[in-house]
Amino acid sequence: MLQVILIYLAFVPLVYSTHGCDPPIVNTECGKVQGIYKNGAYSFRGIPYAVPPTGSKRWTRALPLSHKTSTCWNKTYQATNFGHTCIQRNPDNISQIIGSEDCLFLNVWTPSLSPGLLPVMVWIHGGSLQFSNGNWPTYSPDEQLASDTNIVYVSMNYRLHAFGFMALDILSNSSPTGTSGNYGFMDQVLALQWVQRNIRNFGGDPNKVTVFGQSSGGTSIFALLAAPEVAGLFHRAWLMSTSPVLNKTTPEAAKDNEIFLQNTGCSTITCLHNLEAEKVINSVPWDVYPYWAMRDQGDLPVKGVFDGAIAVVDGDLIPEAPFDAWKSGKGIDVPLLIGSTAQEIDFFPTQMDLNLWNWTLYEQRVRQKLGTFGRQISDEALRLYPTGEVTPEYQYTSMASDLRVSCANDILADIASSHYKSPVFRYVVTSRPSHPIHVVEIPFPASYSCHMWDIFGFFGTIKDYYTPEPERQYVRRCYEGRDSFLRENG
Ligand SMILES: *[C@@H]1O[C@H](CO)[C@@H](O)[C@H](O)[C@H]1NC(C)=O
Ligand SMILES: *[C@@H]1O[C@H](CO)[C@@H](O)[C@H](O)[C@H]1NC(C)=O
Ligand SMILES: *[C@@H]1O[C@H](CO)[C@@H](O)[C@H](O)[C@H]1NC(C)=O
Ligand SMILES: *[C@@H]1O[C@H](CO)[C@@H](O)[C@H](O)[C@H]1NC(C)=O
Repeated sequence: MLQVILIYLAFVPLVYSTHGCDPPIVNTECGKVQGIYKNGAYSFRGIPYAVPPTGSKRWTRALPLSHKTSTCWNKTYQATNFGHTCIQRNPDNISQIIGSEDCLFLNVWTPSLSPGLLPVMVWIHGGSLQFSNGNWPTYSPDEQLASDTNIVYVSMNYRLHAFGFMALDILSNSSPTGTSGNYGFMDQVLALQWVQRNIRNFGGDPNKVTVFGQSSGGTSIFALLAAPEVAGLFHRAWLMSTSPVLNKTTPEAAKDNEIFLQNTGCSTITCLHNLEAEKVINSVPWDVYPYWAMRDQGDLPVKGVFDGAIAVVDGDLIPEAPFDAWKSGKGIDVPLLIGSTAQEIDFFPTQMDLNLWNWTLYEQRVRQKLGTFGRQISDEALRLYPTGEVTPEYQYTSMASDLRVSCANDILADIASSHYKSPVFRYVVTSRPSHPIHVVEIPFPASYSCHMWDIFGFFGTIKDYYTPEPERQYVRRCYEGRDSFLRENG
C-alpha cells in the first residue's frame, strides 16, 4: 500500500509536465530519472540497468543495480541522452571500433505517465549479435511511435560480439556455473526483469509485455523461449527474420573458439580480464573458422561451409537446445508471431553486383553454389526458380532467402504450433520498396522485400528513407497486424 501511495505522489508533478513546464521525472527502484517530452510522448534515455560488466566482471553474468550494493545513483538521474553503445566493430567501417564495455543502459518511450495501464513492447535489436544498439536511427522505437500507437516501448543495449557471446573452457572453469557464453542474452533477461519491477511507473502494464526482435533480436527471443527463468517476464513474443539454429553446446563452441584464445596470447583468466578491449575484438576469428564475420549468410549455401556458433546451449540460461525444450513441453508457452521477408538477402548480399546480373550469370552462380550439393540439387533449384522470371536479383534472393530463412522459420512455426498451447502465427512480407533503398547506409540498393523491410514498416521509419506515398497502405497493414496480435492474444 505504501508503495502505491509513494508512486502516486511521484506522479503529481508529472501532470504539469504534460503542459510542457517541468521536465518529466519518474521514480525507479534505483532512484529518480528525468527524461524529456517530444512529439507527443516522453522518453527516458540511457537508464543504467546493471552493474557495469567491466574489469573482473567481463564475461560474467551482470548484476542488477541496487541500494543494498550501493550501486544506485543518489541524485535524479539525467535520462536525456542514450547510453554508450556496446563495444563493437563499426558497422559502417569494420576496421574501426566504437562503443564501450560499460553499456548496459535501457530506454523507455511512453505516451502517458499515468501508472500501469498501457501495453508494453520490449525491443531487442538485431545485428548478428555483434552490431547496433537499442537506439539506432530508423531501427528503434521513438517518441512518435509511442504517441501514434499508445504503447510503452523499451529497448536495451546488451553485450555484443566477443564480450556478449564468448564460450571458452577457461571462462567456464572460473565460473560458479561451470559454463560460459550468452552474456548478452543474460543482459536482455536483466532488462526484462527491470521492466517487471519498474514499468508501471512509466505508464506500462507489467502483465501485458510483448517482446519483439528482428534478425539476431529474433534469434535472441528464440533462445529466451527455452530459458526457464524468463517465465512470466513477457506474455507474447514476436520474432522477425530469426535464425533458428541453436544447438551447439558451450564445450563445442569453446573448442571452435580456441583460436580466439591463441590470438589473445592469454592463458589465465586474469590476463583475459586485463586485455585491452580492442585486443579482445581483434582476436576474434573473423575470416577463419568459426567465421564470426558470417559473410556467407548473404548468399546461397555451399556444402560443408558452416559458421561457428555465437549463441550457444550454455547449460545455464539455456539448458537445452530450444527445439528440444519445446518438444518436451519446457518452452515458454506464450502466443508467438513469426515473420520474415520474401527476399531477406536483398539487403547486404555477399555478391554486391547481384543487381547487375544477367540470366547467364544467375545460372552460373546457382550452379557454382548449390552444385556443391550435387548436380540434381542445382537442376531442381533452377526448375523452381527459373531464368527469365522477374529479374536475376529477384530469383536469386528469393531462392537464398527461402533456403536460409523462410523454410527455417516455417519449421520453427511448425514445431512451436505442435508443442505450444498458445496460438502461433506465421507471415511472410512480400511488399517491396517503390524504389531501391540503401538500408542503414549499406551500399547495396535493395529493390525487393529485403531484410529490415518489415521492421521499417512497423517502426514507421520508411519515411526516413523517402516519402512513402506508395507504401502508406503497407505501413497501415503493418500497424493493423501488430494491433490485432496485441488485442487478440492477451
Ligand atoms: C551513492 O551514495 C552511496 C552512499 O553514500 C555511495 O556509496 C555510492 O557510491 C553513491 N553512488 C553513486 C553512483 O554515486
Ligand atoms: C575505415 O577506418 C580506417 C581506420 O580508421 C580508415 O583508415 C579508413 O579510411 C576507413 N575507411 C573508410 C571507407 O572510411
Ligand atoms: C544441430 O542440428 C542440426 C540440424 O537438426 C544437426 O544436423 C546437427 O547435428 C545438430 N548439432 C548438434 C551439435 O547437435
Ligand atoms: C552476362 O554478363 C557477363 C558478365 O558481365 C558477360 O560476360 C556476358 O557476356 C553476359 N551475357 C549475356 C548473354 O549478355
